[in-house]
Amino acid sequence: PNSQGGQLGRLHEQAAKLYHHILVNTPAGQPALKYLLDRGMTRELIDQFNLGFAPEPTNGQPVLYQYAQQQELDYQFLRKSGLFVERADGQLQDRFHGRVMYPIKNANGQVIAFSGRILAKKAPANTPKYLNSPETPLFNKRQTLFNLDLAKQAARKAGHLTLFEGFMDVIAAYGAGIKTGIASMGTSFTSEQVQAIARLTSQLTIAYDGDEPGQAAIDRSLKLVEDTAPDLTLRVVQLPAGLDPDEYVQKYGSLKFQEYMTHGEETAVDFRLAYLRKDLNLQKQSELINYLNAALEVIATVPTPVGQSVYLKKLAGEFGLDLGSLERQLASIPAPRA
Ligand code: UTP
Ligand code: MN
Ligand code: MN
Ligand code: MN
Ligand code: MN
Repeated sequence: PNSQGGQLGRLHEQAAKLYHHILVNTPAGQPALKYLLDRGMTRELIDQFNLGFAPEPTNGQPVLYQYAQQQELDYQFLRKSGLFVERADGQLQDRFHGRVMYPIKNANGQVIAFSGRILAKKAPANTPKYLNSPETPLFNKRQTLFNLDLAKQAARKAGHLTLFEGFMDVIAAYGAGIKTGIASMGTSFTSEQVQAIARLTSQLTIAYDGDEPGQAAIDRSLKLVEDTAPDLTLRVVQLPAGLDPDEYVQKYGSLKFQEYMTHGEETAVDFRLAYLRKDLNLQKQSELINYLNAALEVIATVPTPVGQSVYLKKLAGEFGLDLGSLERQLASIPAPRA
């Protein structure tokens, strides 16, 4: 498996080089380069992240397959590399074509997979916007985090990692000076990824897209971290409605983004208390009581009495309630598992 991994790793490095070369140096890459520059990517970022372009076949010849054939690479090896798909007649074709290519690296900075984005803003039916490599001996989706190789170095200084939803968010944040950004592969954040994060830092800041799915995903990710690595300190930055971090940087610039990421930070408990009430009408007494009961359950998870008291005071102040009754009810909630 070692030499297989070595050969597979080499093929991925070569593919990344080829795709990057096509993007920045050839006419076939022009539309993709324009696409990236139009959406605010700079040449520096394109080079730093080694972005590329996988073109459509030229004269019926898939570019990567042609390249692999020149090196006389074994058919079975190529078939299982994740970079090709097999037609019904057994012919191999490039998996990625007509897509901007994002190399995905392991924590040591070695290319282990790709994600390819279509050039159109929105994907047509039956076409994914981002197409990811399948699992291979090199690529375990559940363990991989985009940009962890660079972010882990930045985390030593910053004291935290920053979890974004998308590759473009990580890259835009990096360009704006926030180099601690990582992203999971697609929307699912896994316990393996949480463990990898917890080994590298003591704080995770979650900054997903400012939309309904983003908020729901923050709630799920907070729970996953609390269950998997309870010692990891959690912070949340909620982006303004309708914007993701990349769009925020494009709209307001790097400085404003940095400010937002620092000043917009809240605790996991603050996020939960706000999230619990987002669909409630607290003018209605029954809904208010339900909310307060649920809010006290959340506050009961705060590990210190001082911490609990800060949130209780806020709650009491907000609704003009008697602090004593909140305290008595909180005391009746059994402590969460140690
Ligand atoms: P988003 O839809 O928020 O995409 O999905 P984005 O990151 O803002 O991408 P742009 O700005 O349109 O280019 C967030 C993440 O979900 C995964 C990708 O990792 C993406 O970055 N995703 C999304 C997929 O894997 N496949 C898809 O078809 C869509
Ligand atoms: Mn370059
Ligand atoms: Mn999104
Ligand atoms: Mn997004
Ligand atoms: Mn986006």
